[in-house]
Amino acid sequence: MKELLDNPVKLIEEIDSFSLNTIAQKIEFQTRYTGKEGIFKKLNEYFRNLPPEEKKNYGLILNKIKVHIENKLASFKIQSANFKREDITRSIETPFLGSTHILNDVAEEVIKIFGRLGFEVEEGPEVETEFYNFTALNFPENHPARDMQDTFFINSEDLDSIYILRTHTSPVQIRKMINGKPPFRFLAPGKVFRCDHDATHSPIFHQIEGLYIDELVSFQDLKETLHFFAEEFFGKDIELRFRPSFFPFTEPSAEMDIQWEFKGNRWLEILGCGMVHPQVLENCNIDSKKWKGFAFGLGVERLAMLKYNISDIRLFYEGDVRFLTPQLNH
Ligand code: FA5
Repeated sequence: MKELLDNPVKLIEEIDSFSLNTIAQKIEFQTRYTGKEGIFKKLNEYFRNLPPEEKKNYGLILNKIKVHIENKLASFKIQSANFKREDITRSIETPFLGSTHILNDVAEEVIKIFGRLGFEVEEGPEVETEFYNFTALNFPENHPARDMQDTFFINSEDLDSIYILRTHTSPVQIRKMINGKPPFRFLAPGKVFRCDHDATHSPIFHQIEGLYIDELVSFQDLKETLHFFAEEFFGKDIELRFRPSFFPFTEPSAEMDIQWEFKGNRWLEILGCGMVHPQVLENCNIDSKKWKGFAFGLGVERLAMLKYNISDIRLFYEGDVRFLTPQLNH
């Protein structure tokens, strides 16, 4: 023991370089150095019996050896903790968590912006009758939109009404007005269906209807509301224009276009709008002399295409994760 204490360098080197990576090695280390028959125990016993004058010097050496033993054991703890953590990530494959669809995100954003103006959210059925989709909205009997070319008809020969897949979200206006009392201020998001298919038209797409009926609502309110929305959604420097248009259920009517920088500064139509036609209010038993208001129908895909520079509407429905995963795209 005396030689060890007189020349502890070899022992300390041995402790420091001991290979301590497994539980078995740890047991071996403890048996060798700290166990009942271990070197440190023996050194301690030897030290205890030394005369006091030698204790001071050897005590320092003994303490140094103890520190090296403790550090070595502590390093094992750290290594084993690391090892465990690595093991968890290695054995479990990180699952693909998916993400909300870009069209849902866009619809949510629209709902939030109009929510700040007091618009609530309503919904209506995707399978509609001709009455709600066309007749109550003042479409004449021979209007081309009723045509087989544009509308998906449901085989309803045995039924009392003609059923179709709704071609727009405007029938929700009628359902709410017939069943409620003014004032109204709501959005109605949902799927709509048309025989239409190219880079900017899809046979199934999404609209968000807006209806605001009260006693003092003007065309100026309509323009200001939609202007506010466009600036909130696209940013203050957005270029937009209102174009006169025609819908049987609004008068006057307009369409709103946004400048599409991505496509060489072309204009893309994003919504139709107008003052609700008095006949539509009367069809819903609402006094058109007292109540008036505006309505609009936004194309959700068109908003997403403009905001994220997407040139082909079909990308939304192909289910390609490279397109749908926001981290990979935008
Ligand atoms: C309508 O559907 C009217 N119901 C809108 C409306 C509501 C006007 C209330 C007045 C008052 P339109 O057919 O223009 O109008 O469609 C509205 C928007 O839907 C368009 O501006 C466009 O953004 C989008 N849209 C129309 N057809 C398609 C299509 N096939 N694919 C994708 N988006 C479309």
